[in-house]
Amino acid sequence: MLAAYAADLAADDPLSALEVGARPEPDPPEGWATVTPKAASLNHHDLWSLRGVGLSEDRLPMILGCDAAGVDEDGNEVVVHAVIADESWHGEETLDPKRSILSERHQGTFAERVAVPRRNLVPKPAELSFAEAACLPTAWLTAYRMLFTRGRVAPGATILVQGAGGGVATALTVLGSAAGVRVWVTSRSEEKRSHALELGADQAFEPGARLPERVDVVMETVGEATWGHSLRSLKPGGTVVVCGATSGVAPPAELNRVYFLQLSIVGSTMGTREELDRLLRFCIDKGIRPAIHATVPLTDAREAFQALLDGNVVGKIVLTP
Ligand SMILES: NC(=O)c1ccc[n+]([C@@H]2O[C@H](COP(=O)([O-])OP(=O)(O)OC[C@H]3O[C@@H](n4cnc5c(N)ncnc54)[C@H](OP(=O)(O)O)[C@@H]3O)[C@@H](O)[C@H]2O)c1
Repeated sequence: MLAAYAADLAADDPLSALEVGARPEPDPPEGWATVTPKAASLNHHDLWSLRGVGLSEDRLPMILGCDAAGVDEDGNEVVVHAVIADESWHGEETLDPKRSILSERHQGTFAERVAVPRRNLVPKPAELSFAEAACLPTAWLTAYRMLFTRGRVAPGATILVQGAGGGVATALTVLGSAAGVRVWVTSRSEEKRSHALELGADQAFEPGARLPERVDVVMETVGEATWGHSLRSLKPGGTVVVCGATSGVAPPAELNRVYFLQLSIVGSTMGTREELDRLLRFCIDKGIRPAIHATVPLTDAREAFQALLDGNVVGKIVLTP
């Protein structure tokens, strides 16, 4: 079957490690299902994998892709929850030390078929297209958990979303706005700032800008490039929720600011199956649809990866096998 996969790892030139070509059909173990993806969506995670972050050489070749919506062997329309917990684990999947997400230990979704544990299949609501549903299980689920579970953001609160153009950031903007939160964003690009305002952001600023007032919660996915601004933008007692660090993981910690202003730094990763269920319902109830930057056939996956790498993307790129 056709697949987009990591044939190699290349920290500085991730696209040189990408192949689009034939891979063997999945051989699902007991308790797993085979899904035929109708749509899959790209995440920054797929670039990290090609760079060798979270993926080791002994697991190659590895089909990439965490997200998919498709049809199972019985013809049911499903969304794939990408967090694979160990069979013996009881409790929240995201806290299982042995968890992985699809394409780390198990072959991913950028293929004509993918095997996943049956418990990871969530019914796809008829209101969402396959492309829309395929955008939700990583970036949108991560945003949902950052906002409502880890950030405990209340309606009427003000949040700052750094790096507004990203997949997680656009989801934070739309979900926050729909939940009655005042959403401020930063972005390096004027076009992405305008788009964020169209998505429901209340105000958009250049990176590092002085804000009209300090905010309750900052949503961080950018890391080193924005971290100092994130800490400076918080009210005393405020919280920064961090799920990623695209520009680097080791900014100055500014511990004096953290203890003196009693700031909280809260980590967040993916989300549970139950949160994915709730996210789907929230999207339908509020009429929310993910912003799709482009829909590209799987055969042209290289161009899609290049666009993500160049950073000229607003919202999600969808691949159709
Ligand atoms: N922990 C988890 O479960 C989890 C889940 C999903 C994602 N993540 C991580 O979160 C990060 C974002 O993921 P994504 O899929 O949303 O990525 P993405 O779509 O590629 O977005 C990245 C955004 O970061 C901003 N950015 C990148 N480099 C920057 C720099 N040097 N300076 C300032 N801003 C920069 C850009 O915003 P502007 O161009 O608008 O400035 C860009 O739109 C990634 O590192 C990813 O691995 C983690």
